[in-house]
Amino acid sequence: MHMNPDDRKKRSAHAALDYLTDGMIVGVGTGSTVNHFIDALGAVRNRIAGAVSSSEASTTLLRANGIRVLELNDVGSLELYVDGADEADRNRYLIKGGGGALTREKIVAQAAKRFVCIADDSKLVEVLGRFPLPVEVIPMARSLVARELTARGGQPVWRSHTFDDRRSHATDNRLSRFTTDNGNDILDVHGLQIIDPPALETELNQIPGVVTVGLFAHRPADVLLIGTAAGVEKI
Ligand code: A5P
Repeated sequence: MHMNPDDRKKRSAHAALDYLTDGMIVGVGTGSTVNHFIDALGAVRNRIAGAVSSSEASTTLLRANGIRVLELNDVGSLELYVDGADEADRNRYLIKGGGGALTREKIVAQAAKRFVCIADDSKLVEVLGRFPLPVEVIPMARSLVARELTARGGQPVWRSHTFDDRRSHATDNRLSRFTTDNGNDILDVHGLQIIDPPALETELNQIPGVVTVGLFAHRPADVLLIGTAAGVEKI
């Protein structure tokens, strides 16, 4: 049966509603799959006490759905975090950060007792790395970190806005730089075959200037809900 990717994303997002319990504060990730989850959450907003958000974009959408957004520092640990992924394997290791929200996502995931990852089946892979690995870096360390990544066999590319974004700011070149919510740069590392995700995450975390590596291996998802044409596969 044919089904477009967006419907498969929606399917996985709706399946995550089963993990809600009354009165809870939900950690909410970022991205197009999570946007479906936020829309669905809006319909049951009276059942939850609020949300902790992983990005400015999700905060805006949560508020538009009438959901209270709380600061992580004010709520302590969370029962549940729901977020998407750019790639996932059957060990529930993830690559995240395609939308640039990886640092706050990793923080909220770490604060949560259960991390439910929602994705369509195009994200499920045997070996992580076909999707370029996002690494958030302090701007002054960008070229240093790029050299360290190259020495480890990767091909880092400094993330900028898409051509269409740039065209609208054509008179100001500085605006072509992609900046995270934390004011940092992103290097997208191509050409990696990530055989041992926890080891690579540990190693890259040691490079001075690296803020966050978009590998979620030390804190993987606890449950993967994969939207397929046939239904939702739970891993
Ligand atoms: C945001 O920085 C990412 O980690 C997202 O979780 C990831 O890019 C998934 O996005 P989509 O649901 O839009 O594919």
